[in-house]
Amino acid sequence: DWTPQSFVEETVEAIQEKVGNDKVVLGLSGGVDSTIAAVLLNKAIGDNLYCIFVNNGLLRKNEFESVLKQYEGMGLNVKGVDASERFLTALKGIEDPEKKRKAIGNAFIEVFDDEAHQITDVKWLAQGTIYPDVIESVSATGGPSATIKSHHNVGGLPDFMKLKIVEPLRAIFKDEVRRVGASLGVSPELLGRHPFPGPGLGIRILGDITAEKVRMLQEVDAIFIEGLKAWGLYDKVWQAGAMLLPVNSVGVMGDERTYEKCVALRAVESTDGMTADWVNLPYEFLQKTSNEIINKVKGVNRVVYDISSKPPATIEWE
Ligand code: XMP
Repeated sequence: DWTPQSFVEETVEAIQEKVGNDKVVLGLSGGVDSTIAAVLLNKAIGDNLYCIFVNNGLLRKNEFESVLKQYEGMGLNVKGVDASERFLTALKGIEDPEKKRKAIGNAFIEVFDDEAHQITDVKWLAQGTIYPDVIESVSATGGPSATIKSHHNVGGLPDFMKLKIVEPLRAIFKDEVRRVGASLGVSPELLGRHPFPGPGLGIRILGDITAEKVRMLQEVDAIFIEGLKAWGLYDKVWQAGAMLLPVNSVGVMGDERTYEKCVALRAVESTDGMTADWVNLPYEFLQKTSNEIINKVKGVNRVVYDISSKPPATIEWE
């Protein structure tokens, strides 16, 4: 019978046997898979595991600082790298969603490669690949592990991709990963986090990306997500977030007409992200959230709620 305890025991032994005293590098994303992979490796090889957590400037509000603190609290040997400026520069003027994904993926690879070079004599690259990623190679792109797949065909691999690969979760499913995490003492809050795309807010800002738009969307997103938590709705939703739309619409403020941004809120139920239904959030919650966003976030004068299912509408707008 499969139990998280026996999985942990066997996997720790297998890792020790495989990598011995070698150094291993791993990219943390803040998500469940890379985190649990890191905790397992840390249990097996301790500080020979070098974790790198990159701030691409497209994370949620305060996410970089708070997740980094959590990682440190878990005893992980982690280096936080704030590369926000580098990503913003790489994205300047790009409007096409796939070009944005590429720019973000390439910037990530450059930053990660620079960091990996600073670890003397590193031999292995660890990844949080889980079984569905293995069987379905068309998985999403943009996250630390996924980025690597989508760049396999590009000539001249960065050096870290020439490392030997260790993937402790490649035989198990998401729910098993969560059970393993729980048995390792990972906090329920971290285990219950909604999925978040690797390109982050970069694909939730429709059109070109600027620091000001990122800041605006971070505020909107934080109000929405905090509200879901406060109303006990967060755990009933599979994924939620906000999109900054590339349209301005008319509003009034006092005697003045305003011409400001519109944001769309999206919350979906799903099991694997392949199909999804919009969530019937309480009107009262939507009303309060909308008021709070419009009152607090300068530059936004309109909020809409996305009531489209997938298919045909995707979860993200880009
Ligand atoms: P869609 O929008 O295709 O999203 O319905 C399905 C799931 O995949 C996530 N997603 C991504 N994840 N890089 C990622 O790591 C991406 O480029 C990307 N695009 C979409 C999305 O958040 C949802 O969970």
